[in-house]
Amino acid sequence: MIKNMSNFSVFVLIMTMSLGLRILLVCGENINGNVSGYDFPSGFVFGAASSAYQMEGAVDKDGRTPSIWDTFAHSGYMNGATGDIACDVYHKYKEDVQLMVETGLDAFRFSISWSRLIPNGRGPVNPMGLRFYNNFIDELVSHGIQPHVTLHHVDLPQVLEDEYGGWISRKIVKDFVEYADVCFSEFGDRVKHWTTINEANVFTLGGYDLGFQPPARCSRPFGLTECSTGNSSTEPYIAGHHMLLAHASAARLYEKNYKDKQHGLIGINIFSYYFVPLTDSIEDEIATQRANDFYIGWFWNPLIFGDYPDIMKKNAGSRIPAFTVEESDSIRGSFDFLGLNYYNVMYVEDKSSTLQSENRDVVADIAIKLHSVQNDPSIFEYPITPWGLAGVLEYIKQHYNNPLIYIHENGQRTRRNSTLEDRSRVEYLQAHVGTLLDTIRNGSNVKGYFTWSLLDYFEMLDGYESGYGLYYVDLDDPNLKRQPKLSAHWYSDFLKRKEKASL
Ligand SMILES: *[C@@H]1O[C@H](CO)[C@@H](O)[C@H](O)[C@H]1NC(C)=O
Ligand SMILES: *[C@@H]1O[C@H](CO)[C@@H](O)[C@H](O)[C@H]1NC(C)=O
Ligand SMILES: *[C@@H]1O[C@H](CO)[C@@H](O)[C@H](O)[C@H]1NC(C)=O
Ligand SMILES: *[C@@H]1O[C@H](CO)[C@@H](O)[C@H](O)[C@H]1NC(C)=O
Repeated sequence: MIKNMSNFSVFVLIMTMSLGLRILLVCGENINGNVSGYDFPSGFVFGAASSAYQMEGAVDKDGRTPSIWDTFAHSGYMNGATGDIACDVYHKYKEDVQLMVETGLDAFRFSISWSRLIPNGRGPVNPMGLRFYNNFIDELVSHGIQPHVTLHHVDLPQVLEDEYGGWISRKIVKDFVEYADVCFSEFGDRVKHWTTINEANVFTLGGYDLGFQPPARCSRPFGLTECSTGNSSTEPYIAGHHMLLAHASAARLYEKNYKDKQHGLIGINIFSYYFVPLTDSIEDEIATQRANDFYIGWFWNPLIFGDYPDIMKKNAGSRIPAFTVEESDSIRGSFDFLGLNYYNVMYVEDKSSTLQSENRDVVADIAIKLHSVQNDPSIFEYPITPWGLAGVLEYIKQHYNNPLIYIHENGQRTRRNSTLEDRSRVEYLQAHVGTLLDTIRNGSNVKGYFTWSLLDYFEMLDGYESGYGLYYVDLDDPNLKRQPKLSAHWYSDFLKRKEKASL
């Protein structure tokens, strides 16, 4: 009997035997919280999130070519850590779908590797890439798990970066739409939730202004790293502009050619902090609005109102491209849902005195200084600030006509090889889903929650130093054995109470 029990059950059993029932009850109460999946509206989906480069591995198998992320990792930006093997989901996807089933997920969010599906960036489809995604999607669907698919998650085919500079060229729009077309036509019979671009705002800032993300473009004195090429003053705005045009063209194509038969939804994803004025000065309050306009408004104002926020046009001047009337009409309303990644709260301090200098970059154009709620940078784990999630959702409800939202990412960062007893993750998730329920009851239009992440992946900023997973992946084991953390048991319990309720 012991053999078939999970680690957690054994842990509880030992606790019970040695310390008595009272402890068991306290422990159970702790990990369950006062909210369960049952309390959410019917149709609400709970899932976990991932991306291709961070989980798949097999980067040179079966015809895949490098993406800008492979190039970035292999250039040593991450102390030698790469996604070459990652969690080897390419070979282990069946085992991982089994973990999703055991956890009780309704949905799984993942991205397609463009350079695995279309190795030359455009043109012929790679039959082995096609087969992998068909198999993976079939495995999910046959186990009752909805696939929520992202088309671009920081991993543009390197070949397009080399040919014309990727997102800084308008040529990207045509190639992106053709790639999206292949995905809709091949997978759209089973995939009902499409996200065009992950964290469009962070990708532009990280990739083209500060240079800490692929494709690592930036210019002095603005980048955080030494970039070999780029222009921090102009390229973030140009890349972001092309992302909006590419998103809208793909969404319009879906609407025109696929939506009637496939009945799916399409959206785009951004990252947000909840911004709070550092002091109650009017300057900090205005600076907080500026932060929201530059982080959220950059993408959502065009999508909802058809143009960039006024403050962006004012501060960036001719460095931010303008939409034609036709483009504006195409972008406005080109979504069914908006995807939001939320982790943390930031306090905003006004720095508008810095606006005098010329040739500013996006970060300088915002003219703010951010202060983390966590004062001690040696603390690895995120502070637990669910009120920030409520704050962002309330902001969106009030400023953007309460659009349909999926929380695409939310989760706790811990040291990867610390204990499986990840109580801070349980507390983090429990607090956020509890608050999410409160916001839904107060009118926010949220239909899904995905925790980042299912497994401990190759992480964007930390490589293999941190993990966000419900499951630990043992990198020293040649089979990359997955082991459930306390958070996997908590999530499973939370979700199974949902299942029970709907019977
Ligand atoms: C759960 O408990 C928290 C903290 O006590 C409370 O703020 C929240 O409203 C509760 N949620 C529900 C749905 O009872
Ligand atoms: C960036 O582009 C702007 C506008 O073309 C130009 O004025 C500026 O000198 C460029 N900066 C760099 C570092 O190339
Ligand atoms: C609930 O929504 C209303 C209307 O948007 C808002 O004024 C109020 O602050 C919200 N309550 C909470 C607790 O966020
Ligand atoms: C955990 O990971 C860190 C960073 O990679 C490393 O320094 C440390 O030695 C590891 N600890 C164990 C017990 O493996």
